[in-house]
Amino acid sequence: MSVEVYYYSKGGNTKKLADAVAKAVGAAAKDVGTPLENKADILFLGSSLYAGGFDPAVADFIAKYGSQIGTLVCFGSSASGKSTFNKVKALAEEKGVKVYDEFYNCPGHFLFLHKNRPNQEDLDKAAAFAKKVYGVICGGPNS
Ligand SMILES: Cc1cc2nc3c(=O)[nH]c(=O)nc-3n(C[C@H](O)[C@H](O)[C@H](O)COP(=O)(O)O)c2cc1C
Repeated sequence: MSVEVYYYSKGGNTKKLADAVAKAVGAAAKDVGTPLENKADILFLGSSLYAGGFDPAVADFIAKYGSQIGTLVCFGSSASGKSTFNKVKALAEEKGVKVYDEFYNCPGHFLFLHKNRPNQEDLDKAAAFAKKVYGVICGGPNS
């Protein structure tokens, strides 16, 4: 069972989440500009909200590598509490990619909002989410 963790991050918040997710599932977090070399049974994809949507680099990644992804699992952050999940899910499903029903989203620092977020608790929750999903899909990192 192969697992990959990718992210797009303008300011570093999504990268922090991606590093926590990656550590939890025994992988290394990679920027979406990094080629996906092989098939990934599970691919965790971090994307945060910019002007109500996700960055085009995330769409490019899904278009390019969707056929190599078994199940896509989404996570990210935002200032408003909204997430990119529904939009990423719609795009991925349009490309024939299976998307896991649950996602993780937390507040991310933006201007005067959510100073120091994601904080350690957010990162712990992201890690717990990733471990849980990994366990559900494939029986856990040590199986
Ligand atoms: C250019 C820009 C646009 C943003 N637009 C929104 C938005 O429309 N809605 C929202 O909830 N947050 C918005 N945010 C806040 C980001 O979603 C939040 O800061 C997130 O944690 C950024 O992740 P990053 O540091 O990985 O880029 C915006 C942030 C930036 C930099």
